[in-house]
Amino acid sequence: DNYVVIMAGGIGSRFWPISRTQYPKQFLDILGTGRSLIQWTYFRFKNICPKENIYFITNQSYISTLKEQIPEVDEANIISEPSRKNTAPCAAYFAHKISQLNPKANIIMSPADHLIMDERAFERTCYDALDFVAHHDALLTLGIKPTRPDTGYGYIQYDVEEELDKVYRVKTFTEKPSLELARTFLKSGDFLWNSGIFVWNVKTIMEALAKYLPEMHEVFLQAKDAYNTPQEYSMISQLYPLCTNISIDYGIMEKAKNVFVIPSYFGWCDLGTWESAYENSNKDYLGNAVYGDNVMVIDATECMIKAPNDKLVLLQGLENFIVIDTPDVLLVCERSREQQIKEYVAEVKRNK
Ligand code: GDD
Ligand code: MG
Repeated sequence: DNYVVIMAGGIGSRFWPISRTQYPKQFLDILGTGRSLIQWTYFRFKNICPKENIYFITNQSYISTLKEQIPEVDEANIISEPSRKNTAPCAAYFAHKISQLNPKANIIMSPADHLIMDERAFERTCYDALDFVAHHDALLTLGIKPTRPDTGYGYIQYDVEEELDKVYRVKTFTEKPSLELARTFLKSGDFLWNSGIFVWNVKTIMEALAKYLPEMHEVFLQAKDAYNTPQEYSMISQLYPLCTNISIDYGIMEKAKNVFVIPSYFGWCDLGTWESAYENSNKDYLGNAVYGDNVMVIDATECMIKAPNDKLVLLQGLENFIVIDTPDVLLVCERSREQQIKEYVAEVKRNK
């Protein structure tokens, strides 16, 4: 009864200019590991449940790239979204679809773009999580010990006292807090980051949808008879535009009362920004992370540098910068401003 759905429809705009609308970061091998992020994610879950039960949900424009990168995936396991509506509609669509196939399904809903260092520990945690949700009415997330006041994450305050078999009750869930708030959370010590890996049974998520996103729930109920039939896509194409654009974090996790967390220790990183790539990179003795066969660095310190292998790049004297060169775009940005790259890209698009 265990299912995995890998969400792979984001555009990864904070990884611009490597990540583009047409080729977002989940399909890239940003750290040069030999596999793209989505390939790693898929093979990781293949150890946890049979491949027939692993689904992808992504924008229709990414489907050909997905098939190229993971040719063994069956057509029926690729769910196509007619438009980009963030992660709450993904969760709703998948829950409704699976409930028609298996009303006892337990679901792991995972991002496609995370790095996980200890695969065995990850598997154990997933089994614990699946086991818990099979017997509890729980919206469970895997929590990570925070190391910096990052404003790009959800923060989970959990009840340290109340342990139920490795699982803790969540008191508050705050998505993407201000820097001030994030600092307070970090100091207090009873907060975890939300890894964005959610686990629940199909009944519980359906109830949460009905309660917190009733309009969206209604939308997907309308397709009830079309799921897993040839009519599914045309039906969903009509319905999807009616959904609000909202993430599961704002839409459900911040509001629900039955939220639980497993504090997890499998070496996790949301490769979400250049800063996180920098942190996870090997560095030279001056703290520079350098990608590219022809990059020359002179007296620069603590920079994240990436350039095409066939391009000679000479960099001198920079400190704490992100320098990303691609055939058609060059980005030079202070490391401390990386969360703003998303806004800069929006600005670029507006001015085009
Ligand atoms: N199919 C689909 N459609 N996938 C999407 C969409 C969409 O419209 N939007 C985003 N995704 C995918 C992304 O590709 C990514 O794999 C995942 O959903 C999460 O989206 P992000 O845009 O990366 O979210 P985030 O990083 O800002 O925040 C989430 O993850 C953090 C940890 O990495 C939240 O869950 C935070 O609470 C969490 O801390
Ligand atoms: Mg992310």
